[in-house]
Amino acid sequence: MAARAALVLGHNSDGPTVKAARGLYPHQWSWDTAFISIALARIDTVSARANLDALLRGQWRNGMVPHIVFDPGAVDYFPGPDRWACAERSADAPRSPPTSGICQPPLHAIATSSILECAALEGSARADEATAWGATVYPKLLAWHRFLRRERIEESSGLVRIFHGWESGMDNSPRFDAAYGRVGARRLAPYRRRDLAHVVDAAQRPTDREYDKYLTLIEEFKAAGYNQSELARCCSFNVGDVFFTAVFAVANDHLARLATILGAAERSELEGYAEAARRAVRRRMDPCSGATLDLDLRSGEDLASGTIAEFSALIAGGLEVSQKSALVKLLTGPRWAGSPRLRWPLPPSTSPCSSAFRARSYWRGPVWPVMTWLLASSLERAGEVQVAAAFRDATLSQLEDRSFAEYYEPLTGEQLGAPNHSWTAAVALDWLCR
Ligand code: SER
Repeated sequence: MAARAALVLGHNSDGPTVKAARGLYPHQWSWDTAFISIALARIDTVSARANLDALLRGQWRNGMVPHIVFDPGAVDYFPGPDRWACAERSADAPRSPPTSGICQPPLHAIATSSILECAALEGSARADEATAWGATVYPKLLAWHRFLRRERIEESSGLVRIFHGWESGMDNSPRFDAAYGRVGARRLAPYRRRDLAHVVDAAQRPTDREYDKYLTLIEEFKAAGYNQSELARCCSFNVGDVFFTAVFAVANDHLARLATILGAAERSELEGYAEAARRAVRRRMDPCSGATLDLDLRSGEDLASGTIAEFSALIAGGLEVSQKSALVKLLTGPRWAGSPRLRWPLPPSTSPCSSAFRARSYWRGPVWPVMTWLLASSLERAGEVQVAAAFRDATLSQLEDRSFAEYYEPLTGEQLGAPNHSWTAAVALDWLCR
């Protein structure tokens, strides 16, 4: 399985860049790249470094790492660079490579740590080379984290704000239904979706109505010239994202450690970002279950629970024992991985007990192996090694047919979305090559 997973990453590579998946996603995605580099480092730290470097070539002058770095030769994806028009509207955007104008959860410092750790196992020459590379990446990651701190932390909640469901990485999750309800319809230039041509059943993807909203937001971004403070004031989608904030907390831990290794001065600044983000996530916990809730920053309302983002506090870490136990109980209990309806005891993207659950629809129900991996890593960090090992074993069974699907129907185990998806192959590779 590991050999087959490595083959998938090779097949999806274009020079140093590992694309998300041939067909449906022919470009380089931001958080995919981090997951892929973490796994790639297990077998080839040089390629893992090159993959991250390729992504960072698209970094904006204001520090933002965009959610897509486009391959100008791959035209079969929508919305492409023309629709985003970033360089035309913002002096911060690079002209080349073309990019999207939003971001995604910042796992890149975590990937950098993994690369350095794996290189240390390859002997001192490779370790020195990786540390020298780490010194070149560090200022870019620092600029990225400072961008998030400066432009995206909403002061009163301490949460990272997002302006599009795509920024969460969980596009059509019920987390955002109420927030999307506030996005008005705009007259859009005609467009043709390309994603539907790559799946056998349109029900696996967001609806046309959802796509209209996604594109309406892009028009709002362009009208604001991608200016972050303008968007914070006016964007019709403005959500304090607990999951993004949790990832930011952990990423700052890793970047602070890298600062220490390099003798850089910003260690305590980064530790401060980590602690503040962790506190912000903890404040959003339900006192009984521990589940975290997103905050709609336009209306001040709590957003829907019942999605995998409920476990953001587990990802952020730093919990008291009782809080951690409550969350692990919730995660493994009948609302989540312990539901008797599931094909494998793995947490779906939306709880099967939720009225919003849709077994085949993207982030509204399917199991995403990459999310299982992220939760398992958080459980390991929290000392919950048995639960983490059970998730790993169940995932490896789930992936046994080696199709490495993007996501899986939780009740039947059917493969959905893009086959040979890089980040699903990455999950197998990481777990099998440790
Ligand atoms: N996930 C989005 C897509 O489906 C983009 O980030 O294209």
